[in-house]
Amino acid sequence: MEIIITETYEEMSREAADIIAECVKQKPDCVLGLATGSTPIGLYAELVKDNQAGEISFKDVKTFNLDEYRGLDPKHHQSYRYFMQENLFDHVDIVAENTHVPNGFNPNAEEACAEYEESIDEAGGLDLQLLGLGHNGHIGFNEPADHFPLATNCVQLTESTIQANSRLFDSIDEVPREAYTMGIGTIMRAKKILVVANGAGKAEIVKKAFLGPITPQVPASVLQLHPDVTVVVDELAGELL
Ligand code: GLP
Repeated sequence: MEIIITETYEEMSREAADIIAECVKQKPDCVLGLATGSTPIGLYAELVKDNQAGEISFKDVKTFNLDEYRGLDPKHHQSYRYFMQENLFDHVDIVAENTHVPNGFNPNAEEACAEYEESIDEAGGLDLQLLGLGHNGHIGFNEPADHFPLATNCVQLTESTIQANSRLFDSIDEVPREAYTMGIGTIMRAKKILVVANGAGKAEIVKKAFLGPITPQVPASVLQLHPDVTVVVDELAGELL
């Protein structure tokens, strides 16, 4: 595992964008696993700049997002599909059909999850998976549990996640209680993993995840077993490392 500590959020974003850009340059038809949350917003802005400057092209790239709220209209301003359109897809030369987000609007959880897992396999698997970190160590929406879920699955969000994500909704009652997420197995099969975290609020979980014991109670700790992980954190998130 390589850990890079940058001074600022802007540097973290540029560093992480460079790693993704390199992957796209080396393999123009690569398959990228993408993440939402506030952490990657800066790195997506950097990738948009690179694309608009003609340094990288997404025209043959396929993307699969980690997760989506169950039951939320993809047009809802807090859906992860909407987030991706706003922060990346609408500003780069990616082909719409090549972008995938779990279908939160399919009420049949088993079908939605199986289809998603299958489409990742059909694309040849993930070349690079980008991850943010939940405060409780969740990756995607894989919450602390007594086992590591293998495949894309439907999860009940924990109270702390609902609370944390309620800042983005008009009221806490509007936050969906369930989500579809890639499993830990899906994530671990990616050839390369890139984790980003910033801010003092993430310092404790960054330490637990990467220096603590490997346990499904801290889902991100499983990444210690992956052969190719790069963690990019700003000074505040990295202060306990
Ligand atoms: C959400 C997402 C995660 C993300 C996490 C952290 O719960 N499902 O994929 O990593 O939030 O978000 P933030 O980057 O805003 O701290």
